[in-house]
Formats: sequence, C-alpha cells, structure tokens
Amino acid sequence: KRLGVLVSGRGSNLQALIDASKDKDYPAEVVVVISNNPSAYAIERAKRENIPVFVVERENYKNKKEYEEKIKEILQSFRVDLVVLAGYMKIVGKTLLEAFPNRIINIHPSLLPSFPGLEAQKQAWEYGVKISGCTVHFVDEGIDSGPIIGQRAVPVYDDDTPETLAERILQEEHKLIVESVKKVLTEEYEIIGRRVVFKKRG
Ligand code: GRF
Repeated sequence: KRLGVLVSGRGSNLQALIDASKDKDYPAEVVVVISNNPSAYAIERAKRENIPVFVVERENYKNKKEYEEKIKEILQSFRVDLVVLAGYMKIVGKTLLEAFPNRIINIHPSLLPSFPGLEAQKQAWEYGVKISGCTVHFVDEGIDSGPIIGQRAVPVYDDDTPETLAERILQEEHKLIVESVKKVLTEEYEIIGRRVVFKKRG
C-alpha cells in the first residue's frame, strides 16, 4: 500500500515509517512526501531515500482551497492509499478531507482528548499528569479530534522537564505510527460513532 506523508519539520516519524517499510513484510511504503516548510529536515530524509518530495507553501496560493488542491493533486498522482500527517503543522481542510475520507491519519504527542493543539508535551508536564503518551487518530475537520486508532502511554517522572518528557513520548510515537499504519491497512475495522472498532482482539 502507498503512503503519502505530510511534514513540516524534523521528520523523525517519517523516518520511522521509511525504516519500517524496508522490511518487505511491512504492508506500506512511503511513495511521496509533501512539506509546507521549505527548510524542513524531513525533506533531506526523503531525498536520502530517493523518495519524491514536494514543497507546497501556503503563501504561494491565494487561499486554503487552492493550496489543498495542489496537495490533493500530488497525492492522487502518486495513487496514495493513506495520507499520514507526521509533524504536519497545518489544519487539514475540506478539500483534503473530501478527497481522502477516513484515509488521513495524524500522530499527536499526548493521550487525546487531553492536551490537543501545540506543545502538547509541555501542556501535560505543566498540568502535572503522571502518565502521558501519544495518539494516532483519523483526521476530521477539528484539531486533533478524530476517531482514535491507537495510543501508547509513558510515565512522567518528577524530575522530568518538558524536553525529557517529549523525548520519551517521541520514542513511543515512532512505534505507534508504524503499528497504526499497519493496523489501518491490514485489519478490518468499523467506525461506530467516535469509536474505531477493530475486528481482531487487540
Ligand atoms: C511529533 O511530536 C508529532 O507527534 C507532532 O510533531 C512532532 C513531529 O516530529 N505532531 P517529527 O517531525 O516527526 O520528528
């Protein structure tokens, strides 16, 4: 199956998917990377792996619709089966949601619905939670609000800083994104209300 990955920054989750796809038994490969940020290190990661990468900058388009039409056009030209937002820092709009209904997933560095939005790791640290983690969910019109596919938890230690917590969560993100993509692409599931119900026990 063919993945289109949208990025804006470092690209470590993209790298996790690239590394996983090197195992011939992994059911997906990254066929195209799109960044809205021309200086995203994720671009270097794609180039190093000879994966086609496109920079699509929002300011080059007169509105969000035209911007997303461009992204949609690239994703469709690469016959993408699943779109993965991996550190993509823009809100997905109607154009992409309608083009890829329940085929866009996002990874977020907190146990949603707690701490949506930016700097989720710092939000959790400041709140004083003792368990945090990460979430992969289907993208809907909201912010970090779609049906949850999977989550991984990490302990928060009293001597943690926002940075040490973010690093601990990031290690789990890399596992969660790889296993969630595989699950969505290989397992039967139904979305019932907000619940993603996978048929197999898990
Ligand atoms: C990750 O923490 C992800 O959960 C959040 O932004 C960060 C992206 O990291 N959306 P990377 O670009 O994948 O390294």
